Amino acid sequence: MRELTPETITDAVIEQMSTTPDGRMKEIMACAVKHLHAFAREVDLTPAEWIKGIEFMTKVGQTCTPARQEFILLSDTLGLSALINGLHDKTAIEEGTHTSLLGPFYRETSPSLPAGGQIARHVKPGTECVLYGRVSDVAGRPLANATVSVWQTGADGLYDIQVNAAATDYRGVFTTNEEGLYLVRTVRPRGYSIPMDGPVGGMVRAQGRHGMRPAHIHFLVGAPGYRELVTALYLRDDPHLADDVVFGSSGDLAVDILADDPNCPIPGVASIRFDLSLSHEGDADKKSGRVGSDPSAIFKEMRQQAPSLTGTAPAAI
Ligand code: BEZ
Ligand code: FE
Repeated sequence: MRELTPETITDAVIEQMSTTPDGRMKEIMACAVKHLHAFAREVDLTPAEWIKGIEFMTKVGQTCTPARQEFILLSDTLGLSALINGLHDKTAIEEGTHTSLLGPFYRETSPSLPAGGQIARHVKPGTECVLYGRVSDVAGRPLANATVSVWQTGADGLYDIQVNAAATDYRGVFTTNEEGLYLVRTVRPRGYSIPMDGPVGGMVRAQGRHGMRPAHIHFLVGAPGYRELVTALYLRDDPHLADDVVFGSSGDLAVDILADDPNCPIPGVASIRFDLSLSHEGDADKKSGRVGSDPSAIFKEMRQQAPSLTGTAPAAI
């Protein structure tokens, strides 16, 4: 038998795993082992440090609930979600609007609203804002009947479900008209901190990072025959546009709020225009999905597979 040493163990592990019947899983796991081992060698990882890492990941798992996905937050704060989004963008057959993070606050159960519907239940004077734009293909041809789902925080910088797991506020699903136009009434988005009370917040603080996201509004846009687009608009004047803690903001997604946009369909209200273009669907879209998901859906799936592992979720979820 060959001697196992720090120099030979990586090949031994990859060789033992070479019986994996699923070709893609075999490739991913061999590469993960190669890079994990290289990382441990490069930093000369000690047993105490690795136990600390295992304790951290255990806490990340224990913090996950139907309303909170701490692993997605970890992926986001390490830039991994943004990297995977960027790699996914490159597989599109046409270059449309770039993607941005779905984040942990998307819900599949948003209310459908008519054009011009208000997504905020309460609008404080001076905070109202109109959001509108055109959904088109990459050649600029308007897409009628596209579905535009939007969600954002309220003026307190919190999403509805952070305040009350059963609440629905600041989110809605709209449909584009014959000219590809969507129209939403909302309130000015605010920059906010990611949840800092868990292990990921502890990591961010230990690194001297601020934990802030620039003001943004999320979009999930779909039309038959086109690649689903998960993106967000970012307010250009936000002080954290360039140092988003989850690396979702990008110059090409930055927009201005205008006080007197002559093209705004609802005059006299501050407005944001955000046009979106979708790539036609290609082969990659048949097998790869979006980065992140409705966290309550992850729990629903786990409950169906192993009811005893996940317990009972709150009735609202
Ligand atoms: C968000 O924009 O909702 C978000 C994205 C990543 C982490 C936390 C929040
Ligand atoms: Fe967000």
